[in-house]
Amino acid sequence: MLKIVQRSKPLKGEITIPADKSISHRAVMLSSLARGKCIISNFSSGADCWSTLNIFKQLGVGIKEIDKKTIEITSDGNLKKSFTTLDAGNSGTTTRLLAGILAGQNFDSQIIGDNSLSKRPMKRIIEPLTQMGAKIESVDNHLPLTIYGQKLHGIIYSMPLPSAQVKSAVLLAGLNAEGRTTVIEPTKSRNHTELMLKYLGADVNINNNEITVSGSELIAKDIEIVGDISSAAFFIVAGLIVPDSDFIIKNVGINPTRSGILDIIKRMGANVEILNKRVVSGEECADIHVQYCDNLKSCTIEGNDIPRLIDELPVIAVLASQAEGKTVVKNAEDLRNKESDRIKCLVAELKKLGINIDENPDGFIVHGKTKLSETDLPLESYHDHRLAMSFYVAGMICEKEICINGFEWTEISFPEFEQLIWELN
Ligand code: S3P
Repeated sequence: MLKIVQRSKPLKGEITIPADKSISHRAVMLSSLARGKCIISNFSSGADCWSTLNIFKQLGVGIKEIDKKTIEITSDGNLKKSFTTLDAGNSGTTTRLLAGILAGQNFDSQIIGDNSLSKRPMKRIIEPLTQMGAKIESVDNHLPLTIYGQKLHGIIYSMPLPSAQVKSAVLLAGLNAEGRTTVIEPTKSRNHTELMLKYLGADVNINNNEITVSGSELIAKDIEIVGDISSAAFFIVAGLIVPDSDFIIKNVGINPTRSGILDIIKRMGANVEILNKRVVSGEECADIHVQYCDNLKSCTIEGNDIPRLIDELPVIAVLASQAEGKTVVKNAEDLRNKESDRIKCLVAELKKLGINIDENPDGFIVHGKTKLSETDLPLESYHDHRLAMSFYVAGMICEKEICINGFEWTEISFPEFEQLIWELN
């Protein structure tokens, strides 16, 4: 679908950001492994989370959609064999976490996915799970994965790269393994799995970058899902760069392992106000007041910053184009393994708008500040939801309208995106 984006008026008013995608996946998975009945409220409408939900239905869990955002899950804590393949669609989180869960079952399963997912690396989970005793067949470390359920044993796993998906796959396998399983992270990545395991009563110990889990029974408990800071990021950036914007984004998850973008904004000399801080089902959340900033300055984003804002880097590149000076992003090589090669594709498309951006093996450099120019060429989304929305935000400050090819991919995480933009117009 070709989407036309016009220069935006100032954004004003108030919106509520829909549910966090990472937490929605985990809510379905962990409630399916828990004994009892629970209600998940404010569930994500993103297609990725519905891939997870449909898979757990296939695995015999009692899942009822009370309405689009309210899901009732009833389980005795056990999964059943699915006689058809499990389709994870476009979702890396579904695939990798599910592999950890399925590795220790007393049945075999097969996970498949779409073209983009089938190109993404799975060795990162196959390796540690195999160390735990898992038997997984792949096509050269890619999907389809055939998982032969085995008895697993705990391991101590020092992760070579920071990845919440790998960490979670190992911890979820550890729930069903003999002995203790410890994961040591090089840099702290999002900790939603650990927080939810704790919330549901698992035996989990968190000591800085070291997380240990033992075989435990989870007890079902209602879960309310906070809004997604990765979705809010498009609005935060839009608010900072569309002149005279001033609005509030309600109910945004601000878990410190996810809120790197808020630190970067401060580093760039802007300010967002964090209001009404609270904790919802074990996760911190708040309302965020965003105002236009006309004197953004460049910064360096590297090391420990990266896992805390990995999904926000494409829209941060757009923000950097409006900051004075050289914004450098390094140590982000894993961006090349996302829904697209997010370094190569981002750089190619932003150049079309006249953004002065260089590609590096592990990131990019943006030289600002640039007035964005119009282009006759459509910007390509490369089947990548976050690129599509980042380009939309760039289009909001272009002099003339631009068009984006493949905008329907926003359905993966944020079907409400454009509707919410209109609400602020
Ligand atoms: C996610 C972890 C991150 C992130 C992805 C969601 C998760 O991936 O990019 O969008 O929910 O655990 P990695 O674990 O590969 O860094």
